[in-house]
Amino acid sequence: MSVSRTATPRRLLMCRPSHFGVSYSINPWMEPEKPVDTARAVSQWERLHELYLSLGHTVEVIDPLPGLPDMVFAANGATVVDGKVLGARFRHAERTAEGPAYLDWFVRRGYRDVLWPEYINEGEGDYLTVGRRILAGTGFRTDPRSHVEAQEFFGLPVTTLRLVDPRHYHLDTALAVLSDSEIMYYPEAFTAGSRSVLREMFPDAVLASPEDAAVFGLNAFSDGLNVLLPEAATGLHRQLGERGFRPVGVDLTELLKAGGSVKCCTLELRGE
Ligand code: ARG
Repeated sequence: MSVSRTATPRRLLMCRPSHFGVSYSINPWMEPEKPVDTARAVSQWERLHELYLSLGHTVEVIDPLPGLPDMVFAANGATVVDGKVLGARFRHAERTAEGPAYLDWFVRRGYRDVLWPEYINEGEGDYLTVGRRILAGTGFRTDPRSHVEAQEFFGLPVTTLRLVDPRHYHLDTALAVLSDSEIMYYPEAFTAGSRSVLREMFPDAVLASPEDAAVFGLNAFSDGLNVLLPEAATGLHRQLGERGFRPVGVDLTELLKAGGSVKCCTLELRGE
């Protein structure tokens, strides 16, 4: 069955990987002894940036800071819904300074409703908005107490989902939002209870194979029509095409060495 879909233009925040590298390891993808080509990371990132612009999206950029190699993963910098900004508070000391750096960008940019959080949360890495609901990951990074904080702050229902596979340490590595009511996810990344919650909420979700999940196929961005995702996730490309989406393959293999891809590089600025 083919569905007619339309893209809606988004406002995004990105951070050029000028200081990218893998100098520490806080997830199983990161192997500091393996070489990283920063120039290649920058050119891959630039292609993603240009792709967003060519699709009609607005992209803001935040200045990268030396000594913060993971700052390219803008998704972790905050969660923005209805123009309200929930700041990020990182789990690991290596990334702690990114929280205030991102928050400062929002304050200077004129955002008024900004919260410096009480509990650890890694922004859109663990908070994914589906229509007027928020799906919230925990298990590795974001403290489940942050889910209550987010629900109160945004005034939207927040559903806790527990992750179990260290290779899928953030929610956005195991689940992607496709439209206001549709998602795709990798069931094995979640506890039995959370899988059952997802089935209940999204009975028609696209389910990813272990092969597609392993190449970070779920670390995707959708504007309602175009779904940008790692080009290696061939099964998902096919499944998305069958549902009337337009899958767009992206090569971010250099950034994958730090455990990130399309969605990790993209923070959505919702409703200003
Ligand atoms: N090296 C980073 C970390 O482990 C990667 C973050 C990827 N970002 C994401 N939204 N999943 O924190």
